[in-house]
Amino acid sequence: MIYPDELAVITSKFELELSETDRNKVHENVSTVSGRDFFMSIFEGLKMKDKILEYWDFRSSDYHTEYAHCMDEEMDVWKSVFSEILLTDKKVRAVEVGTGPGILAISLAAMGHDVTGVDLSENMLEKAAANAREKGVNVLLMRGDAEDIPLKDGEYDFVLSKYLLWTLPQPDKFLGECCRLLKDGGIMMIIDGLWFHNPDGTEKKSSRYERFDELYGDVKPNLPFAKENTPERIADLAESHGFEDLTWRFLDDYDAFLERNDPSGHAAAYIKPPHMILAKKKVRNS
Ligand SMILES: C[S@@+](CC[C@H](N)C(=O)[O-])C[C@H]1O[C@@H](n2cnc3c(N)ncnc32)[C@H](O)[C@@H]1O
Repeated sequence: MIYPDELAVITSKFELELSETDRNKVHENVSTVSGRDFFMSIFEGLKMKDKILEYWDFRSSDYHTEYAHCMDEEMDVWKSVFSEILLTDKKVRAVEVGTGPGILAISLAAMGHDVTGVDLSENMLEKAAANAREKGVNVLLMRGDAEDIPLKDGEYDFVLSKYLLWTLPQPDKFLGECCRLLKDGGIMMIIDGLWFHNPDGTEKKSSRYERFDELYGDVKPNLPFAKENTPERIADLAESHGFEDLTWRFLDDYDAFLERNDPSGHAAAYIKPPHMILAKKKVRNS
């Protein structure tokens, strides 16, 4: 039995958030007991997303401000990483998911590529738009969920994300989306780091941000990659989603940039340099 007030909340959310497939599943199951469990699992998922969104909307006001004065220097670091990965002068079509203030998307667009930046947070997208304007580049920015990206299948050469994977309740869905968006042989790049560990390997009890502990308190235990966000685990996840030619490395140049420009922030946040995982979508029938 589902209670009418729950149903009202859930259904109003459906129109806003649910994919067509999930909406159909709900309609098929509405009058059964397992349907109620299914409803509630979706409801819990949506409540989690609301908190995640609230946190990133809040963080957008100061996120990346430590590096605002040296955006050109940062863009040079990313351009050099991209030249190493793309090995082509041809224009590629790329999507940065969880683009935040848009620095990677903007760097790639400044190299002449055709880039879309997707983020759940409108406030973050406003920051990205302001940064793109400042650098005089065009990036198509759109609101969207990494677990249900509002873009077409098989149209992209390169899908990238930085510091997004750990924030996702369903990283499997995101990997599925990356695979769906890419052309055969297209490249996926995932950058992340070990955010919640002390140097001795124990888990950090609290964050630098009180608001994080408030909003993420219940959410973090449900994020499969918040804990043990290692390159090896990410590479395994990618392999299980139809990717091949997996490689990873630490981003030492980017780490040096972070340390140079915000030494205390670097010391508080990083116990190792961020890691970058690269993988190719398998070519069908090969
Ligand atoms: C840690 S920030 C990283 C931002 C940017 N990639 C960077 O490295 O500066 C995480 C970003 O992911 C976005 N995000 C979180 N969950 C998301 C989701 N489900 N779909 C799309 N974006 C999401 C947040 O709004 C935020 O902008």
